[in-house]
Amino acid sequence: MYNKIDLEIININGEPPKEEPARQYYYMAKCRQWVKSFEQKKGCLPRYCVVNMGCQMNARDSEKLSGILENIGYVKADGEDGDFVIYNTCTVRENANNKVYGRLGYLHGFKKKNPHMKIGLCGCMMQEPEVVKKLKKSYSFVDLIFGTHNIYKFAELLADVLETDSMVVDVWEETDKIVEELPVERKYSFKSGVNIMFGCDNFCSYCIVPYVRGRERSRNPKDILEEIKKLAEDGVVEIMLLGQNVNSYGKNLEEPISFARLLGEVQNIQGIERIRFMTSHPKDLSDELIEVMKNSPKVCRHLHLPLQSGSTRILKEMNRRYTKEQYLELVDKVRDAIEDISITTDIIVGFPGETEEDFLETMDVVRRVRFDSAFTFIYSKRTGTPAANMEDQIPEDVVKDRFDRLLKEVQQIASEKAMEQNGKILPVLVEGLNEQDESLVTGRLSNNSVVHFPGGEDMIGTIQNVRLTECKGFYYMGKVIS
Ligand code: SAH
Ligand code: SF4
Ligand code: F3S
Repeated sequence: MYNKIDLEIININGEPPKEEPARQYYYMAKCRQWVKSFEQKKGCLPRYCVVNMGCQMNARDSEKLSGILENIGYVKADGEDGDFVIYNTCTVRENANNKVYGRLGYLHGFKKKNPHMKIGLCGCMMQEPEVVKKLKKSYSFVDLIFGTHNIYKFAELLADVLETDSMVVDVWEETDKIVEELPVERKYSFKSGVNIMFGCDNFCSYCIVPYVRGRERSRNPKDILEEIKKLAEDGVVEIMLLGQNVNSYGKNLEEPISFARLLGEVQNIQGIERIRFMTSHPKDLSDELIEVMKNSPKVCRHLHLPLQSGSTRILKEMNRRYTKEQYLELVDKVRDAIEDISITTDIIVGFPGETEEDFLETMDVVRRVRFDSAFTFIYSKRTGTPAANMEDQIPEDVVKDRFDRLLKEVQQIASEKAMEQNGKILPVLVEGLNEQDESLVTGRLSNNSVVHFPGGEDMIGTIQNVRLTECKGFYYMGKVIS
């Protein structure tokens, strides 16, 4: 565990400290006492389960929750029937929300069998007042609700939950605070996400993220580099720098610094072999960044560059602040500089007012750029966003038809692109044993494609040179070249 704290030396008899993170250490020590008495009574340690339902940023937050729980003394449960279960929610599309309500019913079943079980909900969906209202009214068996801005306060909130039988709710509208130095339990020993910024100021007209994650705040470069150095010392070889729009990193810091410069500094850190980042907004992707990517052997040959739509008219309505032509030029510029780069994207179908012509513009960009892969989404109306009030919401059957056509095209191109790499010898970071066949390991190429090949547990976390012997559409089979 990274940033593990010795809780035995903390005095919990006095008042809790006012300053952070000392205040949270105090509450962790208090929870630790509770865990000890649980152990004495039951003869075992309490079990926890953190379920991540969102993007990489949520996944990183989930690791922070697990870090605090482990530090307190909880042990990981195999399933969702633990003594403390928390869902870290996403609300970017409506179906993400529906899933939570469905799964809560299932959790309630466990709670009826184990009345001491505590259920928590946090993350982006909890930032919506309507959601909290509904939970309070119809899901009163939930014990804890908090949002994205006060996740650092988790230990303090948990201490409250352990002492009371009523629902603890603490959701903040906004924050300018970034609390460092709390424990983190990583899902993988050899790779890690690293937040470089929080929030988003772009307000794309369909998107709820700026409302639930708040204003853009960059972390100090010193703190980021320090964290990555510690991760490298702890065996991490691959990091992913995380932010909703990494290309605008550092602009609002007291001493402004560009994302490209930060990347330049990260790649000097010894032990780090691979650097990824997520997500790049096309409007802010600088020549300086392309230059750093081109010259760095550590920065992965992968750029995720969300297109959203190929129609300049729709892009304007979406408030994306680039045109179809600018996007295409940018892709050309990146490919001219970095020949072997893989470019992936996100596309939304059925934005209000999207005509067949607009959709064909998107198809045109897809065919011209030939993305290595693309996440395609059906537009989802998010209350409170400008697009939700736009006229001319597109009928479901029309959207579905466009979505199917787009998906077919995207998949066809992706498999053709994948085929181009077949036969090559490329470095693969081994991530784990293959889930279906334990004589195989699974890893990723620099361009993020998945490769399966014969190997053993001892290879996990190492980089192997692998010949891609068979292309299976979206992944490869391979063989280690010694
Ligand atoms: N900050 C990132 C995206 C975060 S959300 C960026 O700007 O690229 C991830 C993806 O979800 C977006 O790229 C978009 O394609 C999709 N998305 C966001 N809001 C959506 C909505 N209301 N309906 C459908 N898809 C949406
Ligand atoms: Fe949403 Fe746009 Fe911000 Fe991405 S850049 S999180 S799509 S508002
Ligand atoms: Fe979802 Fe929140 Fe990420 S809404 S996509 S989990 S920032």
